[in-house]
Amino acid sequence: MCGIVGYVGFREAYPILIKGLKRLEYRGYDSAGVALLDQESDLNIYKAKGKVADLELEASKHDINGNIGIAHTRWATHGEPNQVNAHPHTSESGNIALIHNGIIENYATIKAKLIKEGITFKSCTDTEVLVQLIEFLQKGHNLTLAEAVQQALKKVVGAYAIAVIEKGNPDTIVAARKSSPLVVGVGEGEFFVGSDASPIIEYTNKVIYLEDEEVAIISKKDGVRVVSLNNTEVRAEISELALSLDEIEKGGYPHFMLKEIFEQPKTLRNCMRGRVSKNHKNIVLSGVLDNIEKFKNARRIIIIACGTSWHAALIGEHLIENLCRVPVEVEYASEFRYRNPIIYKDDIVIALSQSGETADTLAALMLAKEAGAFIYGICNAVGSSIPRITDSGSYIHVGPEIGVASTKAFTGQVTVLTMLAMTLAKAKHSITQEDLTSLISELDTIPDKIQKILELNDQIADIAKIFTYAKNFIYLGRGYSYPVALEGALKLKEISYIHAEGYPAAEMKHGPIALIDQEMPIVVIATHNGMYEKLISNIQEIKSRHGKIIAIVSEGDETVKALADYCFEIPSTLECLDPVLSTIPLQLLSYHIAVCKGKDVDQPRNLAKSVTVE
Ligand code: AGP
Ligand code: GLU
Repeated sequence: MCGIVGYVGFREAYPILIKGLKRLEYRGYDSAGVALLDQESDLNIYKAKGKVADLELEASKHDINGNIGIAHTRWATHGEPNQVNAHPHTSESGNIALIHNGIIENYATIKAKLIKEGITFKSCTDTEVLVQLIEFLQKGHNLTLAEAVQQALKKVVGAYAIAVIEKGNPDTIVAARKSSPLVVGVGEGEFFVGSDASPIIEYTNKVIYLEDEEVAIISKKDGVRVVSLNNTEVRAEISELALSLDEIEKGGYPHFMLKEIFEQPKTLRNCMRGRVSKNHKNIVLSGVLDNIEKFKNARRIIIIACGTSWHAALIGEHLIENLCRVPVEVEYASEFRYRNPIIYKDDIVIALSQSGETADTLAALMLAKEAGAFIYGICNAVGSSIPRITDSGSYIHVGPEIGVASTKAFTGQVTVLTMLAMTLAKAKHSITQEDLTSLISELDTIPDKIQKILELNDQIADIAKIFTYAKNFIYLGRGYSYPVALEGALKLKEISYIHAEGYPAAEMKHGPIALIDQEMPIVVIATHNGMYEKLISNIQEIKSRHGKIIAIVSEGDETVKALADYCFEIPSTLECLDPVLSTIPLQLLSYHIAVCKGKDVDQPRNLAKSVTVE
């Protein structure tokens, strides 16, 4: 993971780099570091274990001048998170500094060779190999920095987004990428590098998204030149960012996660805008409509994803199978890519990913592409890697998600999958126009219904206080609500560090029921839908074993209310649209429990927002 940022121009680089790191901190927060070249061309490097604030404390004791610099916030893969392993890493002579996001898989072989050549390593990271190799090649073959970077990258196996600066060269940053994201911001006489556009947006909306194995030579005087590893000139396309500053700031909320939960009525309206027809007769999801024959003739749809996106995919499976009668398989990307999967040419493989950068999802998608399947992306981050390699796709348009725990992206993903299922069902005539119209009309009411659910916030905060010290939680749901139970449990684990498991409610009696006693809180999604009656029996089973029941019920429900210890009432909707509503109280419950426990909600331990390493 890691966040990287770079600046070269006429302003002081340090404040820009620190602000940029803070915006990228969601990507990793094990350690942080900065390298600056000052007027005298001294290379000053400051590093600290912990967060960007710790780095600021350290750097404040030193010279922070310079109009060029690179900075890094780390999520460690190789070597423990300490000051020595923090980036930037430097070459043997100390002349070159480098920051890196990714993994150098053949680092051990290269390191051994360089050690034989007499080079001493300071850190335990894979990254240091890169900077040492760059200098070794530069000296050995009398190369410029850019040439040495090109030669070094030809020798490495793995994933990288790097930015490199050199003493005596206070005008240039060399940046490159393969499988890890990198954006170059193009201003007037100043240039930026970022893992995403958030450190850049304040200064320019013109960006270049580097492609794999491209190197950008970014010079204050000469602008940006993009070349391949073989030094062939590449015509870099300048794109305009649609991002606004408001979208990446907290806007008065104590945490990004809470802001993002509360944004959902708006984000889902944005997600549906221009796609839900005014008369509710049609869904216009152009990625699907443009390829409708492929979708209609698909033998099967495979959805690959990780984490929360995988939960959204499970809901997609129900939706597409129910509405379109097409077989759907949902796969963990990390498993799919390594088990020699059977992929047919008439399969459609959908990658579901908020960041569009998840390494496992990207690799699984490449596999499907090589096997000849039609590949489709459903992502949030515009211009990210997945949308750039797919045949077609749909953005979820919920705006940047900064809290590490995914909330608005999940509901956006489910909404796009709902619209995809509706579009395909109409094309396949597997739904009547009447049923489709009532489904679309109901979908259109979802943002207002979420607004209503958000009014439960105080009530949920009160109940969270009661369960702050629980050691375990079980989440139960059936049918469409089963993935919601999984997602509820994941949210709680991620940010409050309470052990939680999600189960299909009827599976409980095959094992987990042994866990139930008066200490065990059990969250049951018991809305008034398909399997309501059956779920009541499951609730009775918990009740007779004295488990504490927290139920999500439909407005006006009396039966479950009488059985449960605590209830959250949410508006009714059609069964297939229920997950988007029932997930909201679960997001709030985990948020408030984590706050009561004093945990770092937006940046939970050990996690990072986009997992760009295997
Ligand atoms: C969500 O709360 C998690 N932080 C995580 O499971 C996430 O959903 C997963 O890493 C997949 O990310 P993606 O959607 O960006 O591919
Ligand atoms: N592999 C590098 C390290 O451990 C970078 C990690 C990353 O990008 O997640 O320092």
